[in-house]
Amino acid sequence: MLRAGDLVAFPTETVYGLGADAGNAAAVARVFAAKGRPADHPLIVHLPDAGHLDRWAIDIPQAARKLAAAFWPGPLTLILKRHPSVIDAITGGQETVGLRVPRHPLALQLLREFDGGVAAPSANRFGHVSPTTAAHVRDELGAAVGMVLDGGPCQVGIESTILDLSSGAPRILRPGMLDAVALAEVLGTAPTSGAEGAAPRVSGSLESHYAPTTPMRLVAESAMAQALAAALGHDQRVAVFASLRPETGDSKLIWRQASRDPAAYAHDLYARLREFDTLGCDLILVAAPPVDEAWRAVNDRLQRAAAEAK
Ligand code: TXA
Ligand code: MG
Repeated sequence: MLRAGDLVAFPTETVYGLGADAGNAAAVARVFAAKGRPADHPLIVHLPDAGHLDRWAIDIPQAARKLAAAFWPGPLTLILKRHPSVIDAITGGQETVGLRVPRHPLALQLLREFDGGVAAPSANRFGHVSPTTAAHVRDELGAAVGMVLDGGPCQVGIESTILDLSSGAPRILRPGMLDAVALAEVLGTAPTSGAEGAAPRVSGSLESHYAPTTPMRLVAESAMAQALAAALGHDQRVAVFASLRPETGDSKLIWRQASRDPAAYAHDLYARLREFDTLGCDLILVAAPPVDEAWRAVNDRLQRAAAEAK
């Protein structure tokens, strides 16, 4: 199906991807149409192994080879200078390309069999929460996808760390569960962070992204009881995602337990947000996790999910 230019959704360790032959402009155009995604947002090309790097990138720094050896297959996307043969639809017309080798047996089997690059954004409509099960993909994209490979729930649960190695010092464009500490160990220096400028080079850098349909607010744990009482007082049906069960027994309250462990929290997050959307709530209240490095990627996604749609 990939060779015929069709779309194939597949599991990765982070989230499900909507795959297309990265060398086929018509197939890549189908990805943008299915997602409703603006054309200037570049796509990550998924590779079977690091041996494919030189077909997609040039001037590859030693740091990229070291990181690939240390973390691929795994939740790390490297931004490198594009090979001249990479089509513009993949790069959004930029001089760089995003590459990664995902750590999921089904994805790797597909990529090896295909023996080429598969462009795959998260398999959701633009701006919405990424899918972490095959059912999420079918619910959201349905007929637009030729096939959905079901590899069970994704292990990591949020998108890969994106590291820019295309110019100057290594820079994290999107935090992920593979954190700056782990990258620094291999790089020998700490990466900087922050997406540059206002251009939507990393669509995840738009403020309102990864968002559920239901309005969502991040609330300090100490302020949860009060925020909940206020919402219930307005007769709202409220979903609470927090590690502690609220003390009120109101029937309009839905509580799901949030883990105190960042990896387990990330694993559950998107599935919970999708569940809340299906339960017909007026408001989602999320207890804000600690502000520290281990929670950085989770906090990044929570802030974007809670940002008001623009
Ligand atoms: O974990 C992941 O990375 C998942 C799985 C499916 O691999 N994919 C994913 O793709 O999250 P997507 O398209 O939803 O998000 C990829 C982000 C986008 O925000 C895009 O703008 C950015 O990567 N990106 C891709 N190529 C880039 C480039 N050359 N320079 C800067 N950002 C790039
Ligand atoms: Mg996405």
